[in-house]
Amino acid sequence: MLNRTESNHGMWSSRLMFILAAAGSAVGLGNIWRFPYLAGENGGGVFVLAYLVCIGFIGLPILISEILLGRAGRQSPIGAMVALADSVGVSRRWSVIGWMGALAGFMILSFYGVIAGWAMAYVPSTLSGTFVSISAIEAERSFEAFISDPWQVVGWQSLFMLLTIFIAARGVGRGLETTVRYLMPALFGLLILLLVYSAVTTGEFIAGLTFLFQPDFSRFNTDSLITAMGQAFFTLSLGMGAIMAYGAYMPKGSSIVGTATTIALLDTTVALMSGMVIFPLVFANGLESSAGPGLMFITLPIAFGQMAGGQIFGTLFFVLVTFAAITSSISLLEPAVAWVVEKTKLGRARSAMLVGVIAWALGLGSAFSFNIGSDWTIANGMTFFDTMDYVSNNILLPLGGILIAVFASWRLGQDQLLNEMSEDRAWIPVWRFLTRFLAPAGVLIVFVVTIF
Ligand code: PHE
Repeated sequence: MLNRTESNHGMWSSRLMFILAAAGSAVGLGNIWRFPYLAGENGGGVFVLAYLVCIGFIGLPILISEILLGRAGRQSPIGAMVALADSVGVSRRWSVIGWMGALAGFMILSFYGVIAGWAMAYVPSTLSGTFVSISAIEAERSFEAFISDPWQVVGWQSLFMLLTIFIAARGVGRGLETTVRYLMPALFGLLILLLVYSAVTTGEFIAGLTFLFQPDFSRFNTDSLITAMGQAFFTLSLGMGAIMAYGAYMPKGSSIVGTATTIALLDTTVALMSGMVIFPLVFANGLESSAGPGLMFITLPIAFGQMAGGQIFGTLFFVLVTFAAITSSISLLEPAVAWVVEKTKLGRARSAMLVGVIAWALGLGSAFSFNIGSDWTIANGMTFFDTMDYVSNNILLPLGGILIAVFASWRLGQDQLLNEMSEDRAWIPVWRFLTRFLAPAGVLIVFVVTIF
């Protein structure tokens, strides 16, 4: 059963395709929407430094573990954990990693699809000139008017989910791989174009860089650290099995450490570049860097609306965000889709539809959180949207991450480890120290502090 060279779901055609797919999962709203506004709210450079440390010492070792378990198991995360647990003679309860992950995937997709829908909606509105010379008040009003219309929000969320389901239904090769093959290079190209635009036209590029890279230690607090650690998980798609599912389709014979490092570097580069695109625009237009989640939907349209070429570059920006979101949402669906394919006779397309429709329905709750359902609060005054975000990012992902690190470093058999890491032997002691002790301890700290 184990040590198979192929998965029944299909395979990435090369190591590069695995890198594009995993980077496609990692690079998303987390990098372009969430990272800049978190950096803005948490004092810039200090936050960025804490985030980089978390990526290197916690994120990267867990990323390696997830790819490793996925490739060793060659199935959906639930199936892989059952097979791996059996192979080393430990309890099948370890498959809780897969179950929790699938649940987290549904919950993340619930709010992710809504924000991605907003980004998609901003493509035609920016293109048609809605934001040209718009004032701050008008930009805010137009955003408020948009999100308080349930039909619009649900309409765009549904369109986004439909696209996600369509790609997932076509399978690993024709769906997932074809999508990342074209969208990822387009995304990098657009980002570079926007970076040049922001650097050349704003005159505030240096101010943006200073904000992002010069740590002001007086603004450092434990909250920034916790936020930075949570962001490291979310941005690398860790702790829910997305990367494990993708790892199952990774060809044998390529280094997992090298591949994971490349993915983490690409993801971090995109986050930093997004910050370098956004903050010069913010500073050049005298806007607030700490605008919060509205940074992308209120602040940026104002900035683009003031600038030469802003209509075109603003449109390209929202196209970029949409692409980044799609290559992530397909990975959020994949663990559950692969599991349904394994357990039923439905086949790929129907399994994708079934799972996708459930995710879409859960997303309605998040879509209504800004309008008709704004007072359906669950606990502590949090809306459905807030609850999905909070429970998945602050509880399920860190918990999943610890379990993955612990299983990979304490439970997996030595022979399996050597088999998967034969290209990375020299790194095994370092990886093992980080996943056995440092990463779980770090995650445990975040976990405890966030909850209490
Ligand atoms: N990493 C994605 C982003 O940054 C979100 C994501 C989280 C995707 C978990 C898959 C799994 O937008």
